[in-house]
Amino acid sequence: MKKTKLVIFGATGDLTKRKLLPALYNLEAENLLPEDIKVIAVGRREIISDIYKEQALEAIKSFSRNKPDFTIINKLLEKIEYLKMDFTKDAEYQKLSTLHADTKQVIFYLAVAPEFFETITLNLKPFLKNFPLPPRVVIEKPFGYDLNSAIILNTLLVKTFGEKNIYRIDHYLGKEMLQNIMFIRFGNTIFEPIWNRDYIEQIQIISSETIGIETRGNYYERSGAIRDMLQSHLLQLVSLIAMDRPQDLKTETIRDEKVKVLSELIPLTLTEQKDYLVFGQYDRVGEIPAYREEKNVSPDSNTETFIALRLLLNSKRWQGVPFYIMTGKRLPVKKTEIIIQFKKLPSPYNSEDLKNNQLVFKIQPEEGVYLEFNAKKPGTMEEIVPVKMDFCQNCEVGINSPEAYERLLLDVIKGDATLFTRWDEVEHSWRFVESIISTRRKVKDFPNYLPFSWGPEAAKTMIERDNKVWLTLEEKYENL
Ligand code: BG6
Repeated sequence: MKKTKLVIFGATGDLTKRKLLPALYNLEAENLLPEDIKVIAVGRREIISDIYKEQALEAIKSFSRNKPDFTIINKLLEKIEYLKMDFTKDAEYQKLSTLHADTKQVIFYLAVAPEFFETITLNLKPFLKNFPLPPRVVIEKPFGYDLNSAIILNTLLVKTFGEKNIYRIDHYLGKEMLQNIMFIRFGNTIFEPIWNRDYIEQIQIISSETIGIETRGNYYERSGAIRDMLQSHLLQLVSLIAMDRPQDLKTETIRDEKVKVLSELIPLTLTEQKDYLVFGQYDRVGEIPAYREEKNVSPDSNTETFIALRLLLNSKRWQGVPFYIMTGKRLPVKKTEIIIQFKKLPSPYNSEDLKNNQLVFKIQPEEGVYLEFNAKKPGTMEEIVPVKMDFCQNCEVGINSPEAYERLLLDVIKGDATLFTRWDEVEHSWRFVESIISTRRKVKDFPNYLPFSWGPEAAKTMIERDNKVWLTLEEKYENL
């Protein structure tokens, strides 16, 4: 039987251990992995296949969302083979010469540091002919270092694989609640008619993490929060929240609508950057090291671990509606939320007593939707109180949401690119982000926030300038 071959470059790396192997295991556990799949795990380490399988077993035990079942793990491990190969050396690619034998579909997954994307692609080129189906490539983020390098990388990839066969991964698109945004917006009558500047006052997208940089100093020094989170994940969230209703659910129709939003992002002028763009870097507290003290980080690093900004879109639907974005490492909670705050409309009740209606997409760790609206307080007094409806999707017994990588891996195997980013999405994101990268270089007051605080004071001042405050759900949960 001809096989589907998944060739993973970077097989001993962090991403493979934490995400790809557990995802393959969970797909196997749910009988979703094709019977004919063979995984070729390419790594530079000098180990034999059996040792690799032992390490894979440990990775699955540590990081899988489902409890490990050894019969299933063994079934998966039989499909994995380790190939020791230094992918930085041209001559080593000869080791792939047997790849054609009994192959139906080959998928190359580049789970390596971005500086290897081009070398690997160039070296793979001679091996791509004579497969029954066009080879696919999965490429991790960041896609390029800036617009120019992204264009160069993209040109090479398109020439080598063809746009249709390139899967630019943004794992946020595989998250359950991100997919749910479209269902909720376009599958209901009650949201879409008011999804515009006439009814929405502001939107906040907050993605906070408690972890620091850990072992990723080398990568993060070049990337920072702008490239690591904003250019990819957070702008993807903006596009899903702000897009117009697609005519159908075809991959390209959805992507066209998302691109429209990204092309409508208004670059911040220099004056706006002073008022509406804040960078931060975490300091030391007690035993917790400052960013500048982390491994492989320069002691006078100017890399930002926090960013907050205000975005505006040049569109009829969103003109004048501020999108406030905040993300950072070493913040008080691990949480991603999108908060839609509605305007107050003329009402016979005292406006001061009314709270703005709010709809919150809870992306993670809890997945769900939260809605707050005004109602009468029970009793004889005519008092208004905000009431809260809190739907938690992953709290229900038996629902253990698949990790983003499971869905995305399965989509690549099936050849469905809907949840992957098309080149023009990446291009427009870079165009916007480039306008703020130069400002980052001028920031000099780092470190400027304490671990487990909500970032530098300037982030608060920034939003207060518009008479608003950051609206995380933390406070509300305490009062529920
Ligand atoms: C990755 C970033 O893409 O996303 C990391 O490189 C970040 O720095 C991670 O921690 C966050 O992903 P998630 O799924 O935990 O929100």
